[in-house]
Amino acid sequence: MSFEKERSYQRCRDRIGTLCDGDDDEIAKMASVVGVLHNEMKDFFWTGFYRVVGGRLVIGPYQGTVGCLRIEIGKGVCGTAAAMGETQVVADVHDFPGHIACDERSQSEIVVPVRDESGELIAVLDVDSAKMGAFDELDQKGLEEILTLVFGGR
Ligand code: SME
Repeated sequence: MSFEKERSYQRCRDRIGTLCDGDDDEIAKMASVVGVLHNEMKDFFWTGFYRVVGGRLVIGPYQGTVGCLRIEIGKGVCGTAAAMGETQVVADVHDFPGHIACDERSQSEIVVPVRDESGELIAVLDVDSAKMGAFDELDQKGLEEILTLVFGGR
């Protein structure tokens, strides 16, 4: 099972690396990352970026049901990941104080900060699952590696 997950991340990393190689448009790269991950990874119910714009998080490229447009830094799982600058793995969203429910079918989630080469926070990647406890340290490692590969910073 964990071997299968590692293999899937490896496939995604190779595919995304090839797709984004040499491109410098952040939104085009975000759309490509989402397109590959959402279709390749099992149990990804909602996959998308919230970009840092004017001191707030604003919806970016995503796949899944309709997401909320803006999130304040410090609010919800996304805003907490942005404020702390650290990946948040939430096994049960109902246990996370202030979780923002865009779709009540979401049960667990992982949110990873995205930095550019200069180390500046440019976005967070949010993945929700309709399964409880879907994400673990393999997801954290797999997603962080892909984001470093594409956007340069960690
Ligand atoms: N779950 C997020 C909100 C965004 S949606 O799920 C797309 C949060 O609490 O930050």
